[in-house]
Amino acid sequence: MKFTDSPVIELPVRDAVLSIQQDNGSFHVGTSVWPCSLVLVKFTERWAPLPGPNPGPGPNPYAQLLDFGSKRAVELGAGCGASGMGLYLLGLTDVVLTDIAPVMPALKRNLKINKPVLAKTLKHSVLYWNNADQIKSLKPPYDVVLATDVVYIEESVGPLISAMEALVAEDGVVLLGYQLRSPEAHKLFWEMSERVFEIEKVPHEDLHPEYAYEETDVYVFRKKKKKKEKEEDP
Ligand SMILES: C[S@@+](CC[C@H](N)C(=O)[O-])C[C@H]1O[C@@H](n2cnc3c(N)ncnc32)[C@H](O)[C@@H]1O
Repeated sequence: MKFTDSPVIELPVRDAVLSIQQDNGSFHVGTSVWPCSLVLVKFTERWAPLPGPNPGPGPNPYAQLLDFGSKRAVELGAGCGASGMGLYLLGLTDVVLTDIAPVMPALKRNLKINKPVLAKTLKHSVLYWNNADQIKSLKPPYDVVLATDVVYIEESVGPLISAMEALVAEDGVVLLGYQLRSPEAHKLFWEMSERVFEIEKVPHEDLHPEYAYEETDVYVFRKKKKKKEKEEDP
């Protein structure tokens, strides 16, 4: 796991390298790059089908999940933007990165620094998870919702899950990079998530061997299917 608290993180993604500037001294956690984001990007790099006629060697259990095609995506709590930028390079070409207003300068700076690598400035927007108007203005539903290292405050868990639920399409997925940060937030997050989503944990051996460590996991959430009235009331 190549994780460092140096001011610049270099993240190789296939034949490109993202250079992500962080400000570890800032009051806002979003101005640092968190390890779950690197783990999610490198897991995706390992399994996302290659563009063109040859999708890559061997059977790939994640081929469909990570074949982004023209899927629409939104990232929650993007921070410095590592996940959104990384997955953009891996085929998620329609993605909007969101965070709270005070983190926007760090996000915008990183989108600008990496513009030559990305060949454009990625879309970004202010989104507080409890702001229904901001959620609506993002025009859900999304095929993919990204979120890495966003579970650390108990009070934010409810709004986070509601935002995920409001943004993700009925047949969409949430790709979550997760690490336990607060026991209270952890407990509530998994209790609430299980009510709303079918949860699949990526086996540790499927993560990128150089970007994996014990505490960090990748999860795939899919909305639980609502029972049709007919089934409930025959
Ligand atoms: C620990 S940082 C992770 C940043 C980034 N995803 C990463 O992995 O490097 C958590 C992020 O969630 C954002 N966040 C926390 N509470 C939020 C809320 N209520 N609404 C929107 N974003 C929030 C923070 O601003 C921060 O950028």
